[in-house]
Amino acid sequence: MSQHTTAQPSGHYIGGEWTDGSGSETFASENPATGETLSTFQRGTEDDVDAALEAAENAFEKWRSLSYIDRAEYLWEIYHELRDRHEELGEIVSKECGKEISEGKADVTEAWHMVEWAAGNARHPHGDVVPSEVAGKDAYMRRKPRGVIGCITPWNFPVAIPFWHMAIALVEGNTVVWKPAEQTSWCGQIIAEMFEDAGIPDGVFNLVQGYGDAGAAITDDGRVDTVLFTGSAEVGHEIAGTVGGEPGKLAACEMGGKNGIIVTEEADLDIAVHSAIMSSFKTTGQRCVSSERLIVHTDVYDAFKERFVDLAEDIAVGDPLEESTFMGPAIEADHVKKIRSHNELAVEEGAEVLVDRFELEADEIPEGHAEGHWVGPFVYEIEYDTDLRCLKEECFGPHVALLEYDGDIDRALEIHNDTPYGLAGAIVSEDYRQLNAFRDRAEIGLAYANLPCIGAEVQLPFGGVKKSGNGYPSAREAIEAVTERTAWTMNNSEEIEMAQGLSADITTNED
Ligand code: UN1
Repeated sequence: MSQHTTAQPSGHYIGGEWTDGSGSETFASENPATGETLSTFQRGTEDDVDAALEAAENAFEKWRSLSYIDRAEYLWEIYHELRDRHEELGEIVSKECGKEISEGKADVTEAWHMVEWAAGNARHPHGDVVPSEVAGKDAYMRRKPRGVIGCITPWNFPVAIPFWHMAIALVEGNTVVWKPAEQTSWCGQIIAEMFEDAGIPDGVFNLVQGYGDAGAAITDDGRVDTVLFTGSAEVGHEIAGTVGGEPGKLAACEMGGKNGIIVTEEADLDIAVHSAIMSSFKTTGQRCVSSERLIVHTDVYDAFKERFVDLAEDIAVGDPLEESTFMGPAIEADHVKKIRSHNELAVEEGAEVLVDRFELEADEIPEGHAEGHWVGPFVYEIEYDTDLRCLKEECFGPHVALLEYDGDIDRALEIHNDTPYGLAGAIVSEDYRQLNAFRDRAEIGLAYANLPCIGAEVQLPFGGVKKSGNGYPSAREAIEAVTERTAWTMNNSEEIEMAQGLSADITTNED
């Protein structure tokens, strides 16, 4: 299955079995660089989700009773398989989501890093020993699993993000029902095969392929204790809203951004241009951490603009499987339309267009790739105004604004923070006071100095503020969303003694 297109649609993995499920519809995943069908899948229904949740619920008690170390053993199997199949899987990622090959491989690397972190963490302390006011009492903060975790993951990191969610959830003793993005179901299938090969007990890991209706059936179900979602703000807010109304249920949602890079008058322009190009165009701008706003001090504006525009005119858009490619295609035709509408909006709002490679020249499209969803960089300058929609709404494409500012770091921060989102951002400056001002006052979860605002590592929390997240970050910090804390106090004395000077005497009418 993992090597080639199959005629037979692949099914769901539920309760340790492959099944076609109850639906009659199928769908295909496509190569966005060629339009060719890669593989076909059964489209999951509410009944399939119901079966997966039942399997996950039934498997929970037995799974949670294993030791952390025993649970982690299954993940170590997967860690080795991800490493052994690095090249092959990296290529599949590139084929299915259109990221250029170094990004396809980095996706797999990020996945095994997360698995390594989660499985390694099985041997690390999971709570605190806490002093008690009363000498005879021992107090602890302990963790226990929440139960069934529903995971909904996006197409742009089709191997890494599923493991951000599932590696920690499983090692902590939860069971999982996962719906991968419909655009990258082949990667989903391969990950499910890895769990099967690792011999994970039946029902502990379940995969349902399909669309948003299957995802909604997971997030809306009362048997799900935590929803882990990474994807668009639209869907994330809906999930956070619904789940927030259900007592005892949690949603950890990581959403998009309208990320900015500040280039101050003290910037090293080599670093500034390099960071801005990487942040705006890597993954064809389709990272939730991609930058769509470059906020540049007037003293260096012209020099920065000239260099940035020159490079944006030239960066190599092309076949994701070629090592010389910098940017692959957009994920699908509808997304190309969406990028076009953002480019048009900027123009309607008065943008001065500096680079418009939205429609690539015929000779830029690689041979045999005419049906790909090609887009190139779109760069514009515009005078900052808080009412401009183009500076507030996320495009999720190679679309970036240059904004000139005059004044000190406070002015740059004012512009930087003027967006409803708060995921990632960067500052480029050689002045440590400016760097520290950004670190402390930029309203974002992932802040970088003299670097692109992409490329977070898994041992850091990954998450945003404002519209970008709802307070339970992913990667390392997913642990907070998939465990409960118990404050556990135990008495070693034969007497009962209370804290806070509270009397433990029981008085009766006889006294
Ligand atoms: C995303 O942008 O959707 O920080 C996730 C990064 C990657 C993850 C990005 N580690 O760029």
